[in-house]
Amino acid sequence: TSHSSVVLTEVHGKVGLIRINRPERMNALNDAVVDAIGAALDTFEADDAIGAIVITGNEKAFAAGADIGAMAEFDYQHAYRTDYITRNWERVKTCRKPIIAAVAGYALGGGCELAMMCDFIIAADNAKFGQPEIKLGILPGAGGTQRLPRAVGKAKAMDMCLTARFMDAEEAERAGLVSRIVPVDRLLDEALSAAQTIASYSLPVVMMVKECVNRAFESSLAEGLLFERRVFHAAFALEDQKEGMKAFLEKRPPQFKNR
Ligand code: CAA
Repeated sequence: TSHSSVVLTEVHGKVGLIRINRPERMNALNDAVVDAIGAALDTFEADDAIGAIVITGNEKAFAAGADIGAMAEFDYQHAYRTDYITRNWERVKTCRKPIIAAVAGYALGGGCELAMMCDFIIAADNAKFGQPEIKLGILPGAGGTQRLPRAVGKAKAMDMCLTARFMDAEEAERAGLVSRIVPVDRLLDEALSAAQTIASYSLPVVMMVKECVNRAFESSLAEGLLFERRVFHAAFALEDQKEGMKAFLEKRPPQFKNR
């Protein structure tokens, strides 16, 4: 367990847990928080014993957005020159191990965008998602206008980005933004258990699955299918493929070696 203040990290078996920890600011995401998330991802990615990662907040807020206090006096040249919101936020996207967002309470603006950068979202029953940037005279800047329509379709994405209304957990699940809803006091257990399940499989295969599913959002169906077939064929080069199938035929649990 490390206590780098604004972000806490823990290791649970084969799972790396990242907790955003600015409760007095509803976990608003300033540079220190996002840099610390990036550093935690660097550590967990480099650690062969970690097979999956969970990012969470607290019961009130996953994250209520980018830090408005930090941004209020930005001018154009500063935002442009520092590549604001891209520089450190993109680290989440480049992580090749799976990341689950465990969302309770508010996931607003950059908080919703951070959750959508993860591979899937498990929501507590009190979760609230929104892109309320328009109320501040800005717009989503970390993928909200792009990832939200891919997740929930144009109608709901336009509605949320233009009116700033929040979506509760039920609506978010119906719309396809979240994969499951659990009672708030079960959220972390459920997310850790899903991550533990993923981490019990062959890591190279897990990474291949993540890469292939993500490809679906970057390519035509024909190109995506071709990409999948290439990776599928490559899986037969793994010792873990031999072990997985042998174990099935011998009616015993597989012993994956991540090679
Ligand atoms: N940035 C900075 N401070 C924030 C914050 C944020 N995004 N969200 C909340 N806080 C602060 C509040 O100012 C408040 O501070 P004080 O105690 O000093 O007053 C503290 O956190 C607690 O918040 P509230 O008192 O407002 O709590 P609430 O329960 O009444 O409301 C809330 C909760 C609905 C989340 C409300 O805080 C809110 O609307 N927050 C802002 C949400 C928002 O606009 N997010 C988008 C940010 S822009 C962005 O993210 C750009 C992008 O695309 C990357």
